[in-house]
Amino acid sequence: MRTSVLILNGPNLNMLGTRQPEVYGHETLADIERLCDEHAATLGVAMDFRQSNSEGDLVTWIQDARGRHHGIIINAAAYTHTSVAILDALLAVELPVVEVHLSNIHRREAFRQHSYVSQAARGMICGFGSHGYVLALDALHRMLAASPRTHDKEKR
Ligand code: DQA
Repeated sequence: MRTSVLILNGPNLNMLGTRQPEVYGHETLADIERLCDEHAATLGVAMDFRQSNSEGDLVTWIQDARGRHHGIIINAAAYTHTSVAILDALLAVELPVVEVHLSNIHRREAFRQHSYVSQAARGMICGFGSHGYVLALDALHRMLAASPRTHDKEKR
């Protein structure tokens, strides 16, 4: 099974491009998807890039990742700071997780400085804008190359 990565994006990230460009930049989510697509192709990795404003969609997609994908990159956006449900789903599927944020959440409001997602993540990349997704793909690819594919056997 070819290495496959699920890239999840949470609420309001569909508004990128016009949403607080001084914080999040001018690129749209479609631009970021294109960037990921190109970089995944250079790594020889398949990717599934999704966005939802709904916590339930994100939980379901994480649950469904088991047996389909080898790792997860997630920018849970505001749910990062609130969602025990997303944390529990990430812990349940036991896939390597890389957390991404466009902005440096540690330079922002105090409520953004706690992440539930981090408790399930191998690492977190924040503050580098869209390039953070490229860095996350590199990190996950390297991790997967170094570890056995325990989930290949479970593919549908
Ligand atoms: C974000 C940071 C979050 O605090 C915020 O709620 C977002 C985007 C980021 O990518 O910088 O929606 O995850």
